[in-house]
Amino acid sequence: MNASDKDPLVLFMPSGKRGRFPKGTPIIDAARELGVYVESVCGGRGICGRCQCDIQTGHFAKHGITSTADHVSEFSPKEIRYAEKRDLKPGRRLSCSTNIEGDLVVDIPQDLQINAQVVRKADDGRIIERNPATQLCYVEVEEPDMHKPLGDYDRMREALERDWGWENLEVDFALLPTIQKVLRAGEWKVTCAIQHDEEGSRPRIIAIFPGLKNEAYGVACDIGSTTIALHLVSLLSGSTIASSGTSNPQIRFGEDLMSRVSYVMMNPDGREGMTRAVREALNNLIGNVCAESHVDRHDILDLVFVGNPIMHHLFLGIDPTELGGAPFALAASGAIHCKASELDLEVNSGARVYMLPCIAGHVGADAAAVTLCEGPHRQDSQMLVVDVGTNAEIVLGNASRTVAASSPTGPAFEGAEISCGQRAAPGAIERVRIDPVTLEPRVRVIGIEQWSDEPGFAEAAETVGVTGVCGSAIIEVVAEMFLSGIISEDGVIDGSLAERSDRIISEGRTHAYVLWRGKQELVIKQTDVRAIQLAKAALYAGIKLLMDKQGITHVDSISFAGAFGTFIDPKYAMVLGLIPDCDLDHVKAVGNAAGYGAKMALLNRGYRREIEQTVRRIEKIETALEPKFQEHFVYAMAMPNKVDAFPKLSERVTLPQRKLMADGMPEDGTPRRRGGRRR
Ligand code: FES
Repeated sequence: MNASDKDPLVLFMPSGKRGRFPKGTPIIDAARELGVYVESVCGGRGICGRCQCDIQTGHFAKHGITSTADHVSEFSPKEIRYAEKRDLKPGRRLSCSTNIEGDLVVDIPQDLQINAQVVRKADDGRIIERNPATQLCYVEVEEPDMHKPLGDYDRMREALERDWGWENLEVDFALLPTIQKVLRAGEWKVTCAIQHDEEGSRPRIIAIFPGLKNEAYGVACDIGSTTIALHLVSLLSGSTIASSGTSNPQIRFGEDLMSRVSYVMMNPDGREGMTRAVREALNNLIGNVCAESHVDRHDILDLVFVGNPIMHHLFLGIDPTELGGAPFALAASGAIHCKASELDLEVNSGARVYMLPCIAGHVGADAAAVTLCEGPHRQDSQMLVVDVGTNAEIVLGNASRTVAASSPTGPAFEGAEISCGQRAAPGAIERVRIDPVTLEPRVRVIGIEQWSDEPGFAEAAETVGVTGVCGSAIIEVVAEMFLSGIISEDGVIDGSLAERSDRIISEGRTHAYVLWRGKQELVIKQTDVRAIQLAKAALYAGIKLLMDKQGITHVDSISFAGAFGTFIDPKYAMVLGLIPDCDLDHVKAVGNAAGYGAKMALLNRGYRREIEQTVRRIEKIETALEPKFQEHFVYAMAMPNKVDAFPKLSERVTLPQRKLMADGMPEDGTPRRRGGRRR
């Protein structure tokens, strides 16, 4: 398209891409030339309605554009016909049938829903630019003619090349016997699903539907060792249609990852049993999301999975035994492409599966998905990404260098190993504040609106109960105990405070803090504090190793991924020293970033290439083999840390005065000699 300075200027929102185009250019062509993705199933016939756009009117001073309704061609017969049959909202136009006649600001709606029965679930508002690996293409195929002996399939291929430019198409062999029936059922009009993931590979017809097929779905799924979270996504609009989760049924074979590897090693059918269990659970989840949104599971054409290396292997049917010990060899570390039917998934028989690459034997495709979502490799500044589970996966870096490791935090952060720990459910304490003078606590409990010192709490607690402390509150209670002086920086509960408060009680040779007195007494014991110290020291030591590798002493931002990150208060995580000092405004919880990364890879094949290349560049650090891990670990047992200063945190929180160490460690924490005092 040759454009001159006099040609109309067109700005596409929300991408902000702009360019000049001669009058009479269809909006869809201008969008495509600028690389703005506009969906189209019917190939510009004006029947799918997928290419809708909003013409913005007014003077847009910032962009120097005056956009008016008469800067586009009048309603075309195709649009009038579409508007009569379907709903075309005021201001909306079909970009395939609307031409540019003057300067324009065009908004491409990001979540255009065509099928009324689909209920859109609230998403997190982020926009994923679409460039899906699977595309629906409607074609009208010439009817057979005795004088032209070209086969039905071949004429359909010709139509796909003519209307859509698909060259060198392949077809799934299993579709061949069905083509004649589908063509006749659709009266020579069919919609083909074309899968074209990697540049250079041959595009492939994976499904054929009679007539116009105006919706197709994908699945983005995070297979966690404890829970599986699955999202049903429209491949055409990018909207999340429904989400569902379940606990991983493999738990019955072993609570944690290593016990599942042991189960495989000890039982001849162990691997098969666990593979079957996870695939069954996935089929059930797919059934749930489809039932909820009235979607036929056979309309699912593309699926993206992420998971830690052991979940990755078990789902794919690979024996994970090698991951149970050094050198933690992955059977396959790169991205996996296969057919859904090869994994026993009950969706469209031609549907394809993509699994993100694993970063290392300890850092899986889930960490790759979190990396893709948060994008440390896209930053100028140093971004730390932490996904806390029974193993913490840590990625640190910027555009020039990214490093990753996993750290064995154990289950303490999830409330296990804690005497009064429980999962986050009604009755669990989720927030804690301790008065530094009286040492009296105030708590908030899941299922009760009020804090414990507010009117109405006692009545509500009668019904809901106060039954335990969930993971996020364990961080808070230990941090608050430290801030109020109940525990020292070394994590020792100060027994002398029993003179001041009856909440400090003696337990043999150690002491404990009574957090809650009610039908059930909830006590934080010295062993609980120790369990949290061990977990947080493991996490911090892993982070420090990565900071050493990067040659940095502070990070610019921190993203906490996963459920744990969603509920903990970053301030308390820093007070305890789980994470290094950082401006608290730059510490955020990013929720299910692994699931979101999977969704990005589902909706845009460009993200698949991006993470494949990034993973190849990420340097993997094996914490167990690093000599400095132990030293960092020992220092990190203290709160927040024996040697590292937390100046940014100190601007917001008054940390207890550091006591001078026996060997004369100064108050800024810099040791005069290595090792510190013995604990
Ligand atoms: Fe189908 Fe415009 S591309 S209506």
